[in-house]
Amino acid sequence: TKGVITIDPGYKNTGSCESAITFLDGEQGILRYRGYSIEELAAKADFLEVAYLLIFGELPTKEQSEKFHNDIKAQAVVDEDVKKILDAFPKSAHPMGVIASLTSALTAFNPSSVNVDSEEDMYKSVVKILGKFPVLVAWTFRKKEGMPLDYGDNSLGYVENILKMMFKKPNGEYTQNRILVDALDKLLILHADHEQNCSTSTVRIVGSSHAGLFASLSAGISALWGPLHGGANQAVLEMLEGIKADGGDTKKYMAKAKDKNDPFRLMGFGHRVYKNFDPRARIIKKAADDVLGDLGVEDPILDIAKGLEKEALEDSYFVDRKLYPNVDFYSGIIYRAMGIPTDMFTVMFALGRLPGWIAQWREMRLRKEPIGRPRQVYTGATERKFVSIDER
Ligand code: SDX
Repeated sequence: TKGVITIDPGYKNTGSCESAITFLDGEQGILRYRGYSIEELAAKADFLEVAYLLIFGELPTKEQSEKFHNDIKAQAVVDEDVKKILDAFPKSAHPMGVIASLTSALTAFNPSSVNVDSEEDMYKSVVKILGKFPVLVAWTFRKKEGMPLDYGDNSLGYVENILKMMFKKPNGEYTQNRILVDALDKLLILHADHEQNCSTSTVRIVGSSHAGLFASLSAGISALWGPLHGGANQAVLEMLEGIKADGGDTKKYMAKAKDKNDPFRLMGFGHRVYKNFDPRARIIKKAADDVLGDLGVEDPILDIAKGLEKEALEDSYFVDRKLYPNVDFYSGIIYRAMGIPTDMFTVMFALGRLPGWIAQWREMRLRKEPIGRPRQVYTGATERKFVSIDER
């Protein structure tokens, strides 16, 4: 109603927009991208098909898919000057800070904001960022590992090439592992979009000022970094490793999670929308079992995760608050099996979420949404006269 300001911290009861991209039903634990269930897409599609679907609204035909792949491959090169930016970072720099900076750098290399009303312009920006971002991800990882910054093999599929760019030995040696390629493709699909979460809302609000797409994505990366959001996948592994180091005493950590005076939270649990199992967590949990089984890897961390999940699902504190495992609870276990270090987990989340951010940014601009500018209820000092410093 006009003139009345309703304060809604964290926008728990505020809808920021109408959207036709992703549907969530938190009570039922349903997730659909453009009407297709996440279960079907994770089982039958590949990541670039899902990216195309989210951004352009339909699954691509064979011709559209081939053109999309080829146009992205043509963009999978990055200005050599980006290496100078990477050189400026110490090895201790957190990869999320590095990738946010490199994405901003892409803005500097591509300052003009895309003309969203031109399908051709928008398509060119989409294939440019989908081509270059994986290179930035691979170089961010290899810089920390002290490995050469070069390219993979454009004859490979999109996800195969990402793994090769990341893990190719300095002497060029690389053994493709189909299990890991399929697992990463599935993980990226599961992370691809999730309606108006914190980082997507950030991308939308930054884009609503008509800042460029790459600048908006860089802002989204920073928002994703927080441990309450995408940073949770790193926090989950650190939590599980802490419990393992502490003798696997899950009961102690369950008590800490319930103790209001203890800031500790069970990372990877709870969700603003899902008040049921996160459908992605179900799929990732099975994928973690399959990947570790296929690789013949026994990971005690997975056992601790399963123990913690079992206890939480039987504990009234969690049941009453409808706290279930979310997308971040099991994903790190698969990334670990791939040899990806913990501080790169959220970068992998950003890689997956890229198409969703792009799709949401495009929808917001095409709908000519107004600049995001909420109001407030002022609670500060009433008017007062200035006092010179000698009299303070
Ligand atoms: C992602 O929004 C999205 O869609 C995000 C995401 C996506 O795809 O983009 O799904 C990805 O970010 C998943 C969430 C990853 N974050 C974590 O796993 C961090 C741990 N989770 C919590 O911090 C929390 O559950 C949130 C942030 C996810 C949701 O927080 P809310 O909706 O603001 O809920 P809340 O903090 O108000 O908690 C409600 C109650 C509180 O207890 P009471 O004050 O009612 O007694 O539940 C408790 C909280 O203390 N609670 C937890 C808890 N999460 C909530 N208690 C212990 N451990 C937890 N993890």
